[in-house]
Amino acid sequence: METPQKLEHLTGEPTTTDLKLPPLKIGEMVVDPPILQAPMAGFTNYAFRQIVRGYGGAGLLATEMVNARGFHWLDEHEAEFPDRLWGVEDEARPLAVQIWDNQPDVMAKVGRRLVEEFQVSVVDINFGCPVKQVTEKAHSGSYLLREPERMGQIISRLVEACAPTPVTAKIRLGCSENTINANEIARVVEESGAAALTVHGRVAEQYFKGQADWDRISEIKSYLKKIPLIGNGDLDSAEKVFRAFRDYNVDGVMIARACLGRPWLFAQAAAAIQGRPIPPEPTLNEQRDCMLEHYKLVVERFGEAKGTLLMRKFACCYAQAKPGARHFRKHVANVATKEEFFEVVDKHFPCDVPSEPVAS
Ligand SMILES: Cc1cc2nc3c(=O)[nH]c(=O)nc-3n(C[C@H](O)[C@H](O)[C@H](O)COP(=O)(O)O)c2cc1C
Repeated sequence: METPQKLEHLTGEPTTTDLKLPPLKIGEMVVDPPILQAPMAGFTNYAFRQIVRGYGGAGLLATEMVNARGFHWLDEHEAEFPDRLWGVEDEARPLAVQIWDNQPDVMAKVGRRLVEEFQVSVVDINFGCPVKQVTEKAHSGSYLLREPERMGQIISRLVEACAPTPVTAKIRLGCSENTINANEIARVVEESGAAALTVHGRVAEQYFKGQADWDRISEIKSYLKKIPLIGNGDLDSAEKVFRAFRDYNVDGVMIARACLGRPWLFAQAAAAIQGRPIPPEPTLNEQRDCMLEHYKLVVERFGEAKGTLLMRKFACCYAQAKPGARHFRKHVANVATKEEFFEVVDKHFPCDVPSEPVAS
């Protein structure tokens, strides 16, 4: 058997050519460019999404996953919206809100609410979360991959409740290496009326270990007759996004971890697939300014104490893989006030070396 080719090992320049991709359509909505920002719990909140929008290049953005049952309970008790819906009402579109649960009725009620009241562009269902609180405790997320019939019920109820707003599904390849069933699931997803399928090329028990299997993602394409396939996993450069489109037969791609400290990656990836020069990485000073803008948005919402605490992890993402990142991480892990945050950034965030004055 041939060893599956992984994105890491692909070669074959050039990696910036106009691929002349057909438009990615999710229902009636055109996602242009066909590059999606992944939902990431704890990260893809309103502040982060504004930063991503600022750089451009992402055709569709997504919220963090929202617990549908929790939302429904809050609603029935006339409590506030979940924090994860921060900004959703007023934010630019397109925007997908991702929800999870295993009860078709609860999902349908919440979906309807998101469509009617929030007018979201897409309602996405999480069938990929491997976290025990979601799988073992709530029999949701990737747990449902072992119950295709139930998945179908959830999707069709939600599709009916949200029409004409599209409903999409995000899955993994299966629960475990021995129970890979993404091909079968793909059929169920399509037949139940979903408007697109996103596949993270790992099984749930892998969490984030190993490499995403893009051969398996690609294989799923032949099981879909009408709806687009969006591939996800390990896309951390414009070149890899280019290769994913060129070599793996996907209609769209979704970027997750790599965009956390590099929200400009979408613009770079979009340029690569459209045959334009890939914009360079922002200078370190520009990256620092981007992080400070992010900090401002977070503090505006959560206040100084909670905002600063929350920003520690984002700040680490921005510093990641840069000279001095470890040192910065160590210091930023203890900041509690605005003053401390700015001081640590001033002293320790990786910065551009001032160029030597040119001798005349
Ligand atoms: C911190 C974190 C939070 C995540 N939260 C979600 C989530 O809320 N919903 C979801 O469908 N996937 C979630 N994921 C999975 C990502 O969307 C994506 O499928 C996965 O990270 C693989 O893509 P990548 O290799 O580009 O990171 C999360 C991943 C990370 C790292």
